[in-house]
Amino acid sequence: MALAEGLVESGTCKLQDITLTKRNAQTLAALASKGFQTNISNADAIVEADTIFICVLPQQLNELLAEIKESIDIDKQLVVSVVTGAHTDVFKEILGEQCRIIRAMPNTAMKVRESMTCLSSANATGEDLNMVQSLFNTMGQSIIIEENMMSAATALCACGIAFFLRTIRAASQGGVEIGFHASDAVKIAAQTALGAAKLLTINKSHPEQEIDKVTSPKGCTIAGLNEMEHQGLSSAMIKGIKLSSNIANNLYTAS
Ligand SMILES: NC(=O)c1ccc[n+]([C@@H]2O[C@H](COP(=O)([O-])OP(=O)(O)OC[C@H]3O[C@@H](n4cnc5c(N)ncnc54)[C@H](OP(=O)(O)O)[C@@H]3O)[C@@H](O)[C@H]2O)c1
Repeated sequence: MALAEGLVESGTCKLQDITLTKRNAQTLAALASKGFQTNISNADAIVEADTIFICVLPQQLNELLAEIKESIDIDKQLVVSVVTGAHTDVFKEILGEQCRIIRAMPNTAMKVRESMTCLSSANATGEDLNMVQSLFNTMGQSIIIEENMMSAATALCACGIAFFLRTIRAASQGGVEIGFHASDAVKIAAQTALGAAKLLTINKSHPEQEIDKVTSPKGCTIAGLNEMEHQGLSSAMIKGIKLSSNIANNLYTAS
């Protein structure tokens, strides 16, 4: 849904150009009332499509592919999958060896056009990749990577949103403890995080260069920062990212 809304809100697609499917007719009706085309049948929904986006959970993928495999035209239609852990071989095996497939790993910031999306592909043409990358670029930034890095991309990029949100929550809780009301604390922490990210993306600098600019000798920043490191800040983030990446890698096979 975030993807469909992002495509519309960025002006890339019109509501009526997107057909959404779901198994639940009630929630599908709610999407139809927003102006999207909807269809309860995946097999019917894909017939007119140039590009088929597959956005189900890993454990729902096999059933979905079984449903569309007879009606897909793999010579004409491009498949884009955001399904975590499902290798392009899975699609080729079920839909046909020649299937043009692009895997995308975006994050929920698509909705505010600040996603980071990692893309990899099998059988896709340069034109396919340009088209899909342009779509995702309207909702943030993207890079093309090797498929063997997609689980790492899941951890850093898709799960990463939650990791950074939790650090903002932690900062705001610290803010409340030192005297701010909760709403002010979240606003201050979120805008400060946004500023930190923009310093890196606009200055194209390394975090440590920016940190050096705000840590004066014997000052309060270095004292706070070192205390956080003594408590395992960087180590916790690195360990969490490694664990997420390993789990992402096994999500489809484990389903
Ligand atoms: N959320 C993220 O930030 C994010 C980022 C990158 C990648 N991903 C990946 O994207 C995929 C979807 O994630 P999500 O968070 O959007 O999950 P979700 O909220 O559970 O959405 C899955 C959707 O698929 C629908 N669905 C399931 N089987 C279907 C079928 N056979 N036909 C039609 N619709 C079907 C479900 O609706 P019904 O039950 O009504 O059918 C539901 O709306 C996952 O593989 C996830 O790992 C997620």
